[in-house]
Amino acid sequence: MRPQDADQVLKIYQDGLDTGDASFETTAPTWDEFDAARLDRYRYVAADPAAAASTDVLGWIAASPVSDRCCYAGVVEHSIYVSPRARGRGVGAALLAAFIAATEADGVWTIQTGIFPENTPSLRLHAKAGFRTVGVRERLGRLHGRWRDVVLLERRSPVVL
Ligand SMILES: CC(C)(COP(=O)(O)OP(=O)(O)OC[C@H]1O[C@@H](n2cnc3c(N)ncnc32)[C@H](O)[C@@H]1OP(=O)(O)O)[C@@H](O)C(=O)NCCC(=O)NCCS
Repeated sequence: MRPQDADQVLKIYQDGLDTGDASFETTAPTWDEFDAARLDRYRYVAADPAAAASTDVLGWIAASPVSDRCCYAGVVEHSIYVSPRARGRGVGAALLAAFIAATEADGVWTIQTGIFPENTPSLRLHAKAGFRTVGVRERLGRLHGRWRDVVLLERRSPVVL
């Protein structure tokens, strides 16, 4: 993910938020806000190889630290968003596989994420990539006035010991 991808990344982010099943957020941040809240490492876009100069962004993945305490140095939380026109074609799986490989190579031992129970594609995507359900956090927050549960998932790396 490069700064020149910013507009497409934020557009895909907003399209995902507009589903109402991706996040408690409703409006994508500015690029500066997005950039500041996420780790520089492990940021990827999926680009269409058929597009000119591969600048057509199909989806993205990025992570934030869960804590600045050193005991959690190897624990990150990620977000993944695929353009509506590219969903269901394996883009999310490819992004997640690249992200897992990069984090493991860098010594990250746990990746966590929160997913609404209604978000079947995301739950399936993550289960297939080795995430397990830690539990369901009930009525954790309100989106458009409605209390929503959040499924907490994590993937403990089998290679970072
Ligand atoms: C969730 C999301 C990232 C999945 O990305 P994707 O590129 O569509 O997913 P993939 O095509 O790689 O599919 C991966 C697996 O997820 C499952 N899946 C994908 N779309 C699905 C759907 N509509 N219904 C059920 N399962 C689905 C499939 O099991 C698939 O594996 P398989 O077909 O090989 O068996 C994408 O739907 C998205 O961006 N949604 C809006 C934003 C969002 O909700 N982000 C996640 C926030 S937690």
